[in-house]
Amino acid sequence: MSADYTLGLTTQPNELTQLSLDVQGRIPSWLRGTLVRNGPGQFEMGQHHIRHWFDGYAMLHAFHIADGRVSYSNRFLKSKAYLNDQATGKLNYIGFAQDPCRALFRKFMTLFRADPGNNAVVNVTRLGDEFIAMTESPLTVRFDPRTLETLGVLDYDDDVAATLATAHPHYDSARGMGVNLMTEFGLQTKYQLFGITATERRKLTEIVSKDIAYMHSFGLTQRYAVIAQFSLRLGSAATVLLSGRPFIENFKFSPTTDTIFTIVELDTGRVVANVPTDAFFAFHHINAYEEGDEALIVDISAYPNADLIKQLYMEPLRRGETVDTGEFRRYYVPLNGKRATYERLVDVRVELPRINYRRNGLPYRYVYASASQPNQPTFLSQLAKVDTHLRHVTLWQEEGCYPGEPVFLSAPDSSAEDDGLVLSVVLDARRGTSFLLILDAASFGEVARAHVPQHIPFGFHGQFFGGVV
Ligand SMILES: [Fe+2]
Repeated sequence: MSADYTLGLTTQPNELTQLSLDVQGRIPSWLRGTLVRNGPGQFEMGQHHIRHWFDGYAMLHAFHIADGRVSYSNRFLKSKAYLNDQATGKLNYIGFAQDPCRALFRKFMTLFRADPGNNAVVNVTRLGDEFIAMTESPLTVRFDPRTLETLGVLDYDDDVAATLATAHPHYDSARGMGVNLMTEFGLQTKYQLFGITATERRKLTEIVSKDIAYMHSFGLTQRYAVIAQFSLRLGSAATVLLSGRPFIENFKFSPTTDTIFTIVELDTGRVVANVPTDAFFAFHHINAYEEGDEALIVDISAYPNADLIKQLYMEPLRRGETVDTGEFRRYYVPLNGKRATYERLVDVRVELPRINYRRNGLPYRYVYASASQPNQPTFLSQLAKVDTHLRHVTLWQEEGCYPGEPVFLSAPDSSAEDDGLVLSVVLDARRGTSFLLILDAASFGEVARAHVPQHIPFGFHGQFFGGVV
């Protein structure tokens, strides 16, 4: 039996352009800009089926909002991966858990260089005047946020040789630069932090590691980057080359291998501490900040193991099997040589967490996330606002509805941390369509919704680009 949310795991072949949507409720007049979301839009190519949710072909969705009205556009990202596979009718690009074409895969791994045919399906961001789609590769794909037209790879004139990069770069407002974590495969594995603009990548630090931790995101405080080397590890890059297995299936979770928080000072690139803690896994850091000079607070949507990766293959997902959701863990990371410890802040399980990004790296209070209940391990069917001070959760839910990542936007001239709106794309399984949900961030009550006349497959991440309409 399939679950009612499987529509969210189904290809959407229709590309719409600036379609005016029916709006219920009143959208505040100050809300002006475009919410761009990224995620898989197609789960097969010819006779070939995508194996893992993370490997669907990227589709961009844009909600253009101005004067209380909303229009919607969606386009496949015309990456080299998509165009090549479409031309051959074969599923050939190297993905997260895709069974690799052996010849191509060997070439990729032998050269230890990123595959130029990347399917940038995970996130989007803005670097100066450039808007880019990202996956876990240093190669990002430019697009026009107004038309969603694909504009080609963002080229840098440098010798960056990293194999992997996170699709969760931070913005360091004090230093005026994007920051991202990359991993270079080679005879030695090197974790590298880069300061990034649209035209330049400057290496801030390089850390040689004996093994390779799979890391999807990292934390940033005012002074430090927090690199959490989770316990899902790969002995060496050569393993990937020799095994011929899909990329992520070479990594093994070890419950006896400590997770290590590597703390890097941003101004000097110096590693100030390597702080061990009991084994765990996560995709998403929530926020991190300094507690004086002695410790860091690192909030993470965390899992006791890496089973989630297996649960997100298309077959078990479509069968409606259990999908774990993360615990809201607050890690206390001492800088004096002791081990890190954690406590679970709330019972509700959270994923795809977002905050008021003005509070990134600082003490803060509120988190917005997709959520599920601890005794109901199913696909994300709620939105949660977590008050970390009161340890209180406010929920939004509706029967048959599956909300995606909630994006927080500050109101103009706001002073309160939660003065603003929360935007989430929701699959309504009963109607067979999706809608943009707009909540008041303070009360978590509905402000408005805009109905899309077709379904939007479950996506990963998105950003609101203010003033871009
Ligand atoms: Fe992510």
